[in-house]
Amino acid sequence: MEVIDNREITDRVFILRLRLTESVLKPEPGQFYLLRPDTGYDPLLGRPFSAFRWNSDWIEFLIRKTGRGTALLSKFRPGDHIRLLGPLGRTFPSPSPHKTPVLLAGGIGMASVYSLLLNRKGDYIFIYGAKSAPELLLTEDIKPLVRELYLCTDDGSMGFQGNVIEFFKKFVKEAPSHSIVVYACGPREMTEPLMKLLRTYNIEGYISLEERMACGLGACMGCAKHTKRGMKRVCMEGPVFNIEEL
Ligand SMILES: Cc1cc2nc3c(=O)[nH]c(=O)nc-3n(C[C@H](O)[C@H](O)[C@H](O)COP(=O)(O)OP(=O)(O)OC[C@H]3O[C@@H](n4cnc5c(N)ncnc54)[C@H](O)[C@@H]3O)c2cc1C
Ligand code: FES
Repeated sequence: MEVIDNREITDRVFILRLRLTESVLKPEPGQFYLLRPDTGYDPLLGRPFSAFRWNSDWIEFLIRKTGRGTALLSKFRPGDHIRLLGPLGRTFPSPSPHKTPVLLAGGIGMASVYSLLLNRKGDYIFIYGAKSAPELLLTEDIKPLVRELYLCTDDGSMGFQGNVIEFFKKFVKEAPSHSIVVYACGPREMTEPLMKLLRTYNIEGYISLEERMACGLGACMGCAKHTKRGMKRVCMEGPVFNIEEL
């Protein structure tokens, strides 16, 4: 696929826009693609990224530079080509009309839940956290798409001082638990305590998990994870899991 645009939005995060051709299937919210350079074998394995935004002409990925693969992708320029495999994995289910969907995002996990705002109807509440204000991305883009936006920073430089879980604990005490459904993506330090909280309050919830991946197609078992129903592959049975399965 051809790179149309590659734009840095902070010194560590960029938005990669690729031209969509007819041969590429459109994703559903929560799905991901494996991306790798079109030529050569370095890196050999594609890296998984959530479908962030798309229309009939292009698809965007919101990517944080963490290592070699992402640093390489950040250097691609318009006209370059990238190999894409996907869409892969299970999607976030549509919110029931009787429940208020609450999106919880930690750091770059925002990329995955943001796709719900554009592609599934709902009256969303968005709770978004990062270490500090400059790491809260695209908040002006989010605002018009949601009913309420709550920002959290560990250092208190914007919004609530504390992490998303600390905020959500306060939030859930004020909201009747049966009337909300939670969609979440973030680091393990966020998703593990979130699962416990949702179980405690008996709240319906779907979490997108991150695991290192190799094939992305269910063959290598490299992304397998223990669940209540045995080992499940994050690339096939996930990345979105109902918390009842975990
Ligand atoms: C389903 C899914 C969706 C994802 N969506 C996004 C997204 O939208 N935007 C985004 O920026 N990132 C996303 N990631 C994470 C992204 O795939 C990794 O950051 C990327 O593969 C790192 O590649 P690298 O070569 O730069 O880093 P490497 O050199 O391979 O590793 C650098 C560091 O990142 C850690 N790491 C590598 N892969 C992962 C992973 N999958 N999960 C957790 N830690 C990892 C390594 O342990 C190491 O500490 C997603 C991961 C999954 C599984
Ligand atoms: S990455 Fe190979 S089975 Fe999931």
